Formats: sequence, structure tokens, C-alpha cells
Amino acid sequence: MRFLTRVFILLSFGCISLLWFLWRHTPLIQDSLSMKEERANSALIFDTLLHVQQLRKKMLRSFCNKHGKTNQLPHTQQKASQTLSSMMVNNKLHFLYCKIPGTGVEDWEKLLEMLVEREDVTLHMPVPYQRQFGTSKMLSHYNVTSMEAMMKSYTKVIFIREPFQRLIYAYMHGLAEGLTFQEFIQYILEGGSMNASVEWTPLVSLCHPCIILYDYIVVFGLLGSEVHHLMLRAGLPESIQVPEFIDSKIRWTYSWLEDQMFKELSLEQKKQLCRFFRFDFAAFSFPHSLLWDLTCISESN
Ligand SMILES: *[C@@H]1O[C@H](CO)[C@@H](O)[C@H](O)[C@H]1NC(C)=O
Ligand SMILES: *[C@@H]1O[C@H](CO)[C@@H](O)[C@H](O)[C@H]1NC(C)=O
Repeated sequence: MRFLTRVFILLSFGCISLLWFLWRHTPLIQDSLSMKEERANSALIFDTLLHVQQLRKKMLRSFCNKHGKTNQLPHTQQKASQTLSSMMVNNKLHFLYCKIPGTGVEDWEKLLEMLVEREDVTLHMPVPYQRQFGTSKMLSHYNVTSMEAMMKSYTKVIFIREPFQRLIYAYMHGLAEGLTFQEFIQYILEGGSMNASVEWTPLVSLCHPCIILYDYIVVFGLLGSEVHHLMLRAGLPESIQVPEFIDSKIRWTYSWLEDQMFKELSLEQKKQLCRFFRFDFAAFSFPHSLLWDLTCISESN
């Protein structure tokens, strides 16, 4: 049974990849009518997305206040670098972002790479002071003075994904050689959060959202519209075409996988996962979460 499940999972991934490939290589048919409508709608959508961002940031701020999380970057170089070890820098476009595998950040980096190569892409907004901090892509490589200056003036972005989906991602990406999903989860729970791998460490512990006041909280599953919105708000030209992101194509596969893999776990394991990810659930709201809806919500009351 388990073997069959695995075969089915692999097959469905294969099919999705094939469909995606075909889709990518089919020329787009532009519908001029829908283009017009799109323009009329885009102002409305823009405001809605802005509102959504404000709600997410409000929730995050209230989490930071409630849990008394520190909002100070450590003063020593070593501790500051350690804290910011997941933070990446794009000096041309003035972005700081938290890099956690499987959250959509891979697509984001491809987009940044494309934009950096294009010479016609420059920031529209006047940057308060033009300063050259250096060329490293890791924020942890800069000195504390530069870190703080960048954290003040750059646009800061965090990519978030529902915890259980991150676990599935880690499992599917070969981080559990030879283990069943249930064994993999048991291994994670026994290892605790101190030694957890970056793939399943809670985002709050990796991205320090109470120290880094993110301008954007981008949710996996909605990457396309949210990234486009953030590009415009960050002052990039409107002509920028945001490519289709992976999340819109794997949504149904993951939804199916989530159902199957959730069933494999014992109630005790699910409860322990709720505890393991309690800060992520308190800091962020995810559009869809089986773990939250079916287990954690009753635990939190
Ligand atoms: C930090 O780095 C910047 C840029 O390289 C440099 O100008 C500055 O002097 C450094 N500050 C300290 C305190 O080392
Ligand atoms: C973390 O891993 C190291 C080496 O693998 C081990 O020595 C240490 O005891 C572990 N810490 C915890 C809290 O599990």
C-alpha cells in the first residue's frame, strides 16, 4: 500500500512536470478584451493586495508584542551575522529577503537574476542615499553598521509557506532517504527544533520577523500576483512581466499529497507538530492548512 502510494506520488509529480513543460512551451494567446478588463481591475486588485499586506503585518506585529520577542539586532558582529544567516541581499534592486528552500524563493531569485541582467530596469523611486555597501549576496557578510543601514533602506521580503507543506516538500526532495513519511516526521519531532534542518525549522526562527521589519509577506500559493504587486510598490517599471511561478502549478498535487500524508500520522504526532510550529501559526496566517484546521485549532483553545 505504502509502496503504491509512493509510486503514485512519483507518477503524479512526473505528470505535473510534463504538463508544466508543455504549458510553458505553448504560445500564449492574448485576449484583447480581457486585457482591457484587466487594466480596469488592476487598480482594484492593487488596493486589495495592499490591504492584505497590512493585515499580515498587523498579525505579525501583534505576535511580536505578545511573545515579547526581541526586536534588536545583536550588537556583536558574530551574533548579528548568525541571526541574519538566512538573509540575502540584492544591491542593484535594493532588496533583502529571507532565503528558505521550498517557499517560492527559488522562483523569486530567478526573477531577480533576470531583472539584474536587464539594463533598462532601474528603480523609479529616488533612493534616499546612494551608498555602496559592497557586493556580497549574504547579509551576514557585512559589518553591523552596513547591516543596519540596509535593513532601514532596502525593501525586505519574507516568503512563507504552510508548515505541513514544507514538511512534504522536504520529504519529496529526498531529505528522508529510505524513511516513510511517518518515520520522517518522528525523526523531526525527536530531533527537536534546536538541530532542525533549514527545510523544516520554523520560519520565525530562521527569518527573525520581529527584528527584520519585513515590508512584504509573500505567501506560497499566491506568488504571481503578490510578487507583481511588490515589484510595482518597490518602484520597478510596470512593463515588467512576472513569469508564472511554480506554486500555481503544483497546488492540486500538494492538496492531494497533504490529504494522503496527513492520514499517515498519528494524532499524537499531529499535536506535536502543532507545538513544533506554534510560532509560525501564531505569526502568520496561511490560506489553507489541514494541520491547523484539523488539529492545532482545537489545541490552541
Ligand atoms: C562597514 O563597512 C562599510 C562598507 O564596506 C565601511 O565603509 C565602514 O567603514 C565599515 N564600518 C565599520 C565600523 O567597520
Ligand atoms: C545537535 O547535534 C549535535 C551534533 O549532531 C549534537 O552533538 C547535539 O547534542 C545536538 N543537540 C540537540 C539539542 O539535539
